[in-house]
Amino acid sequence: MCGIVGYTGPRDAGPILLEGLRRLEYRGYDSAGIALVTESGELFVEKKAGKLANLQTAIADRTPNAAIGLAHTRWATHGKPSERNAHPHCDCGKKIYLVHNGIIENYKELKADLEKIGHKFSSETDTEVLAHLIEEYKKQVPLKEAVWRTLAHVQGTYGLAIIDRSEPEKIFVARNGSPLVLGVADDGYIIASDIAPIVRYTNQVIYLEDGEMAEVTPCSFQVTNFKRKKVEKEISKIDWTLEEAEKKGYDHFMLKEIIEQPESMQNAIRGRLVAKEGMAKLGGLRDVADHLREMKRLVIVSCGTSYYAGLVGKYMFEEYAGIRTEIEYASEFRYRKPILDKETVVLAISQSGETADTLAAIREAKNKGAMTLGIVNVVGSTIARETDAGVYNHAGPEIGVASTKAFTSQLSILALFTLFLGRQRDMSFVMGKRIAEELSKVPEQMKKVFKDSQHIKRISKKYSGFSDFLYLGRKYNYPIAMEGALKIKEIAYVHAEGYPFGEMKHGPIALIDENFPTVAIATRDSVYEKTLSGIQESKARGGKVVAVATAGDKSIAKLVDDVIYIPKTLEMLTPLLSVIPLQIFAYYSAVQKGLDVDRPRNLAKSVTVE
Ligand code: F6R
Repeated sequence: MCGIVGYTGPRDAGPILLEGLRRLEYRGYDSAGIALVTESGELFVEKKAGKLANLQTAIADRTPNAAIGLAHTRWATHGKPSERNAHPHCDCGKKIYLVHNGIIENYKELKADLEKIGHKFSSETDTEVLAHLIEEYKKQVPLKEAVWRTLAHVQGTYGLAIIDRSEPEKIFVARNGSPLVLGVADDGYIIASDIAPIVRYTNQVIYLEDGEMAEVTPCSFQVTNFKRKKVEKEISKIDWTLEEAEKKGYDHFMLKEIIEQPESMQNAIRGRLVAKEGMAKLGGLRDVADHLREMKRLVIVSCGTSYYAGLVGKYMFEEYAGIRTEIEYASEFRYRKPILDKETVVLAISQSGETADTLAAIREAKNKGAMTLGIVNVVGSTIARETDAGVYNHAGPEIGVASTKAFTSQLSILALFTLFLGRQRDMSFVMGKRIAEELSKVPEQMKKVFKDSQHIKRISKKYSGFSDFLYLGRKYNYPIAMEGALKIKEIAYVHAEGYPFGEMKHGPIALIDENFPTVAIATRDSVYEKTLSGIQESKARGGKVVAVATAGDKSIAKLVDDVIYIPKTLEMLTPLLSVIPLQIFAYYSAVQKGLDVDRPRNLAKSVTVE
């Protein structure tokens, strides 16, 4: 959600910043902009509406050499996507330029006050007030103090990077609620919203915390807190490689990430699944194992795809570990009055580890004294750092805006977690072993689903004329129906409703006719017969049905219009396989329409604003 990048050091800043924006573009692509301090001390600023390519074309032959600069890719919150509202924003004197990720909530009041004393604004954004406030404070105090005073004056969230022509060798960066990472390379410093632009240059990073500001020069940096006290920061090592963040010949990141799922799932369970003992070894939970043994209730908080993973987790925990589990949209949890106690543990699930709603829910839970856990993909992200304990997905970078491999790695970890908690309680060795053995087979089974990709592509073509779909599933596959519907909505812009099968007759059935097809997840499991009845009800209303069914189920082919088969596994693990045809179906539905699969309209990865 808005990407910011900055560089100061001996290298030429322009190409580093443009490359950085390319890697951050998944955070937003409404506009892009760059500000460079040239070798002669002049400022070079360019902004363009739309995707990064527009900015690249605009400055292709005229990017000056510069040792320092900032750049931004925007996901619009305040002010429409346009060149005028693109970052960097500046003060009246056009000396201070800054890029921002977050929302300044009191910008209207601040803007009105600043206008009264003569400041002229050139955008509709909340961000611009920051530049004018710094300009105003600079009349009384040096730049760094002016930045502090400005930050004390604003309410809201920010990841912020600032340059000022009067101190042209420095970048100031500050964080409150929006992520900021400082890459410490042999040749200079790169600051960015996440590690994607940094991995190419260094694996040494510093994570800024809320309330901290760093003053970065070409050969040094200093971090202070809002009390103006120096903070000693630990340098962390990142283990993602540049290669993992490349498309490797695939047309889209999304397709690459779908295909990577056997590997990313293997990475999630490797070293953690002790199949012979029917156990899971989760190093990140070692220190809290005793507390988890005593836990009486688990509350899962997450958003979007991660929420659907959590919903599968709820079913797993209750059925196999016997733990009372609730799941809640993180965005709701933070605004109501959740009842939490010492025997309740709150589990956040988040790919990015930066989702503002999930982070706020975790903070609320901590305030109320509950232990917090995280299942997070991005190492070192805020949720990973702020939870008491947790498990990393090890799925590698997920760049496609639509989440795929992160989802199946979340499901894998939830299955491991079920084993862990279940074996602490009543789960038998035999059951533990069964789950562990079946789980270890899933990566190979996923590969079998890919063999059907062309068949799924043909089905997506056949249904490409429909603008509405109903996705239905029961029990473990109900969340998968929701996830399948979300995937086709977000990348193919097709209206789709995900429902539990049994709910169809309570309302959605009214929609069904020959123009409203159903995607039914109808695997051979404990609710198979009930699912078949639901399919019959759709067919009786003239609706077309595409079924995701268990390999070998010939009878279902007679009932529905099209079938996609997946291998048989344990019921609780079915979602790991049933989701894959739905990801592929959504992918090809979008490709057939010529849509930008990795950058769907209005969306951004890592939603760091409310
Ligand atoms: C959908 C998608 C989003 C995210 C949601 C939570 O494909 O990617 O719905 O799942 O924004 O993000 P994380 O998991 O980063 O907290």
